Amino acid sequence: MKGVVLAGGLGSRLYPLTAVTNKHLLPVYNRPMIHFPIQMLVNAGITDIMIVTGGNSAGDFLKLLGNGHAFGLKHLNYTYQEGEGGIAEALSLAEHFAAGEPVCCVLGDNIIEGNILRAVRDYREKGAGAKIFLKKVPDPQRFGVPVFDRQKLLRIEEKPAVPKSEYAVTGIYIYDPDVFDIIRGLEPSERSELEISDVTNAYIARDAISWEELEGWWSDAGTFKSLLRASRLVAETGANKLELSDDLQVGASV
Ligand code: DAU
Repeated sequence: MKGVVLAGGLGSRLYPLTAVTNKHLLPVYNRPMIHFPIQMLVNAGITDIMIVTGGNSAGDFLKLLGNGHAFGLKHLNYTYQEGEGGIAEALSLAEHFAAGEPVCCVLGDNIIEGNILRAVRDYREKGAGAKIFLKKVPDPQRFGVPVFDRQKLLRIEEKPAVPKSEYAVTGIYIYDPDVFDIIRGLEPSERSELEISDVTNAYIARDAISWEELEGWWSDAGTFKSLLRASRLVAETGANKLELSDDLQVGASV
């Protein structure tokens, strides 16, 4: 399985912090934001990783991360998204890198307390379709929101005015290689972006999706409030904490 961290976009909700730099280079407590999604993948045993950058200061990612030695990696891959065509467009740039393998795609502004290693292993064993991670939040209207019929996932609504559940779809997605054909078939949304929720909806329509509730806290960091919240959570409780049983080792190949 390949890992893809999406760190494009203009970060306009954090302006003027993002006037001269990239949102994912901003500090979350004591580390640059981009460190957290990379660490999340490495902790899940995913060590073949591509960073999709874009917008301001793209060259600074190389300066900051190099070949990923700080994460115990031998090599990091990079690509550049021109403009802000949406999360699904950013993911499409990783098609050659994925080379027919499933991808674990993490949004560059998402931070978790725990570890998705078990879920990644589970996907590898049963392995096809898509897997998404949900979290109960007080403000679901800010996110992609799942609509359920009891336990059955019916669809994802992107930033609905009236959310039909208390859950947010977190920015962690596992997709099989069909994802790139699905993205090719998408139409831009009203905000002229290729939406990741439409990708997930395509898997729901094929009945090829599983979901689980993320353990531990989860935060995005793309608004002033959520950036502050994420910094507080990292400072107070730490992120990417490991919950490993004896048979599960960090960096174990999956
Ligand atoms: O954080 C989870 C939420 O992320 C999901 O619940 C939503 O369904 C999903 O659409 C997304 O919503 P946001 O409005 O928070 O997405 P945002 O535009 O802030 O982009 C999140 C990250 O995706 C950003 O940090 C970098 C990457 N991105 C985004 C865009 C628009 C790109 O790489 N390229 C892009 O063009």
